[in-house]
This record gives sequence, structure tokens and C-alpha cells, in this order.
Amino acid sequence: MDFKIAVLPGDGIGPEISVQGVAVMDAICEKFGHKVSYTHALCGADAIDKVGDPFPEETFKACMEADAVLFSAVGDPKFDNNPTAKVRPEQGLLAMRKKLGLFANIRPVETFDCLVHKSPLKDELVRGADFICIRELTGGMYFGEKYQDDEKAYDTNAYTRGEIERILKVAYEYARKRNKHLTVVDKANVLASSRLWRKVAQEMAPNYPDVTTDYMYVDNAAMRMIQEPKFFDVMVTENTFGDILTDEGSCITGSMGLLPSASTGEHTPVFEPIHGSWPQAKGLNIANPLAQILSVAMLFEYFDLKEEGQLIRKAVNASLDANVRTPEIQVEGGEKYGTKEVGAWIVNYIKNA
Ligand code: IPM
Ligand code: MN
Repeated sequence: MDFKIAVLPGDGIGPEISVQGVAVMDAICEKFGHKVSYTHALCGADAIDKVGDPFPEETFKACMEADAVLFSAVGDPKFDNNPTAKVRPEQGLLAMRKKLGLFANIRPVETFDCLVHKSPLKDELVRGADFICIRELTGGMYFGEKYQDDEKAYDTNAYTRGEIERILKVAYEYARKRNKHLTVVDKANVLASSRLWRKVAQEMAPNYPDVTTDYMYVDNAAMRMIQEPKFFDVMVTENTFGDILTDEGSCITGSMGLLPSASTGEHTPVFEPIHGSWPQAKGLNIANPLAQILSVAMLFEYFDLKEEGQLIRKAVNASLDANVRTPEIQVEGGEKYGTKEVGAWIVNYIKNA
């Protein structure tokens, strides 16, 4: 294949991990005979500083012209601590989601046996847990009508049937390819929007007789995720619930720095780590590049290039087994590896595979 990739490094540790993702992309393309070219584009705080817009038109154009976007992270504390800031890095992320029509956010919650001890949960609960959360990404409160004055404020959690149907369809397709168990997470005992979600899901379920569908309130789902994470196979939910549950999901694996994600929809798909920009670590060569590297695996898998994805996953597992790890998952007394060293080890593994 001939890949055109838009690379959006963003802020904080973004640029450092981005370099490692690109290096792995190059190594795989060379190995499997694919051609690849890159367009680097600005986003986030970096783009605000340089051109005053967290998702500039030029970046949008680069994304639209690409086959896939390799995204890293956005966010900078100088905006977090300034409630009067007119533009924020996160607005760039939301603009990207909306403009690229990225309505489906796929977030795998996968455990790595050698890191289970890092989980806040008991070994037997978490070992083997493996599910994916499919989060609706362009609707709900994030994008609904908003109002704010000094006495009153609201966000509207609006969903249309069409928006619900298309995300459920994605979820059912995933469930079909996995263990055929879909959990629809909502708050239908309280929210009208959730009642529509449930109604639409109940209408669609008979079209997927091979998949077991169950329904769970979001509060219960949050609890179940820590009590029995292995219950889940595919979970689907609206934007805000998905935001919260996927943070919970990422931390139960004990390795937030290892979880990639894909966002797909109407235009170019985006592949990114689920962790943020970790500004405190910027430039220190300590950030874990694995989530970014695994997002490259998801990129290849999206294009049905399974062997390419598989080799990346194999290389990542080998690096963990060889204790080639960044500080936060280092075994005690082990040799120290930085972002660059872990990336280089994986590239080398791929080259020699
Ligand atoms: C995420 C992030 C974003 C979100 C923020 C940075 C706007 O938390 O991707 O989960 O809330 O969607
Ligand atoms: Mn989030």
C-alpha cells in the first residue's frame, strides 16, 4: 500500500513519542514493502502559540488529504490554570473530531501479563481482562447546546436516532469479531437521551442474533469494571460516559502508557495513545512510547494489514519481556531505558524479525 500519513505531534511528550511512532511505521513499511509519506501539522497549544488556532485550517487539510492521522497528545498547564483563556488546546481535539466526523472512538482495555502487578486491582481479577470500549465521540454534551452566565449554566445531552444507530452498528461489528457479547451502557432510568439509546439498541439487537446484548446503567458499569472486568467483551456508550469509563478502564490495566486508540467515522481515521500530553515529562526522555507505537499497530489493522499489526504487537511484547521499559514500568534494579531507547529497540526487533 501507498500510505499518506498526517502526523500531529501536539504538546508535552507528544513530539517525543510521535518520533517513535513514525520510526516504527517506517520500519514496518520497509519490511512489508509499503510506501509511506508524512505531512507534519500543528495542533493543540503548539498551534495556538504559532498560529493562534488549536486546529488550523492547514492541519485540517493535511488530515483530509491523508489516509490516516497519527496523533500524539494536546494540552498545556498554562491553559488549564487560566479560566479566562479564549482558546484552549482541547478545542483543537474536539474540532478535529467534529470536522473529520470521528464518531466512533475505539479504546481497547487490554492487560499485559507482566504488568498485572501494577494494577490497583487484585491479580486474579485483572489478569486476562480484555475488552474494548466504543465511545460515541461527536455527539452528546460535548457538542450539544451550551449556556453559561454567572447564575446559571447548562450543557445539552442531545442524540439523534441516526447518531445512535451508526455507533451501535460499529459496536455490533466489533462484538461479532470478538466474543459476541455487547454491553450497552446508559442511564435510561433517569435520562431521556439514554432511553432513546436503549430503545434503538433493543430494536437493533434482533438483527445480530449471534451477539448477546445486555444493558447496564453507567453507575453499575463503573462498579462492574473494577469488580469483574472480565465480564466485558465490547461495551458501547455515549460520549461523556465513555470519557469517564475509558479513564477507569485504562488505569485498571496498570499501564495507561500502553493503551492506544482509534477514532473512525466519515473521513480520515485517527490513531492516538489514550494518555495525555504529560507536560511535566516533556523533553526528559522518560515517556512510554508504547501506546503510540501500538496505535500504529491499530492503524495497520484498520487497513486489514494484520501481519503488520501483529509484528508490532510481538515487538512490543518482546520489549516488555526483555525488560526494555521506561521508568514507570521498570522492574526494580533493572537497566534504565528512555523513550528513544525503547523505540529504537522495537525498530531493531522489527528489522531483524
Ligand atoms: C479524551 C480526553 C478529551 C475528552 C479531552 C482532552 C477534551 O479526555 O480524549 O478522553 O474529554 O474527550
Ligand atoms: Mn478523557
